[in-house]
Amino acid sequence: MTATGERSFPEGFWWGVATSAYQIEGAWDEDGKGPSIWDTYAHVPGNIRNGDTGDVGNDHYHRYREDVALMSSLGAGAYRFSISWPRIFPEGTGRPNEKGLGFYDRLLVELLAAGIEPFATLYHWDLPEALQVAHGGWQSMNTVHAFADYAGFVASRFSDRVRHFFTLNEFHSFVDMGHRGVRAEVGGGKTVRLALAPGLELSDADLNQVRHHSVLAHGLATRAIRERARAGTKVGFAENIGTAVPIIDTPEHVSAAEAATRDLNAAYMTVMLEGAYPDSYLAEAGSAAPRFTDEELETISTPLDFVGINVYRPSAYVEPSEDSRGYRTLPVSASHPTMGSSWHLLDPAVMYWAPRLTTSLWDPESIFITENGCAAADVPAADGRVYDTDRVMFLRACLTELQRSVAGGAPVDGYFHWSAQDNLEWGDGFGTRFGLVYVDFRTLERTPKLSADWFRHAAQRNAVV
Ligand code: NOJ
Repeated sequence: MTATGERSFPEGFWWGVATSAYQIEGAWDEDGKGPSIWDTYAHVPGNIRNGDTGDVGNDHYHRYREDVALMSSLGAGAYRFSISWPRIFPEGTGRPNEKGLGFYDRLLVELLAAGIEPFATLYHWDLPEALQVAHGGWQSMNTVHAFADYAGFVASRFSDRVRHFFTLNEFHSFVDMGHRGVRAEVGGGKTVRLALAPGLELSDADLNQVRHHSVLAHGLATRAIRERARAGTKVGFAENIGTAVPIIDTPEHVSAAEAATRDLNAAYMTVMLEGAYPDSYLAEAGSAAPRFTDEELETISTPLDFVGINVYRPSAYVEPSEDSRGYRTLPVSASHPTMGSSWHLLDPAVMYWAPRLTTSLWDPESIFITENGCAAADVPAADGRVYDTDRVMFLRACLTELQRSVAGGAPVDGYFHWSAQDNLEWGDGFGTRFGLVYVDFRTLERTPKLSADWFRHAAQRNAVV
């Protein structure tokens, strides 16, 4: 596929929007759904800003028709949504809940009628609470096997209509932030602490084992989907790739960025795409290294149809060094700009480098940008419109960089904007808005923002506008 114009994307490029079940569905205990670890976590005062919860969320469970119509009006040709595991298996395993399945059946009818291609994520962090209570969640192989069974079942049920499945979303986030808490650098030596459900504080050894379980769950699920889905069903993961951005685009600097990116993703993308943990990762972990077998490594690296990457910010800036690692991580300036979330260091160039480095390191057949977007202080103006000029700036800059990456040979087949509409931004609550569509959380009224106009024009022309 080749781009036709200077700012165009290849023919057939997917322009999509993304959401996840817990962040928009609501109906947390309706129609037989079991509780998830996010229901439990959000119900503990202090865990989510302003005491917000996903109990009602965007009420998408009841308003999905209106939401699909909105996506259509945005010019989206694809929709990445997640399936709520506890809606299908309220206890994580056992008998499937027909009413839960019915919701996704109805959603798929609507999407297909609107000509929107469904891309389904099987795990976007809402683990059935029953598995957390009975087995310690991802600390146990019971959960790993339960996930593979659930994935195979969902694929057998929906693969006549869903052609692309993502196994798990953002391993690094739900594992590291959920089981330890992570500090993200934001410039000037400052960091912000990020935590997610179930809000544990595991030891190094236990955390490393959970990391290993998460990639093993991906590998087993990939195999289960291949066994039970229609022939031709495509499978991959969606990971928030840690991207090391080089300061200068020369071979030496790019090699340093490659080495650093490989290390940053050691426990997730690197092992899934190479079938081995880098020696440096195991050496650094020492006696806390994960326990694994060669057979498990083979499962973890089961060949995929595509690689999904969520791209928001650079994880590091690097330059070459003489030491054995081959790179040096540079401090981030105290005046480095950020977007609306505290952690969101702004550098659109990451949208060029993430696909380029993914390609040079791992040469995947196909790449999807499974998420990219930003939070902004959106407020309706007196005329009722939402003028999110900063999001338009962000979108145009990111898509310009993505187009450059694709024109340079990165095999990117689609872009999903996070998010289709404002929603519960995990611990930051409803106040941190990522949508192309504004949601008034008192009335649940939806209003497309200025950025929605930009997205529609870009999608229609298949180009940066
Ligand atoms: C990553 C997650 O997958 C999504 O759930 C979240 O809302 C966005 N990034 C923004 O932080």
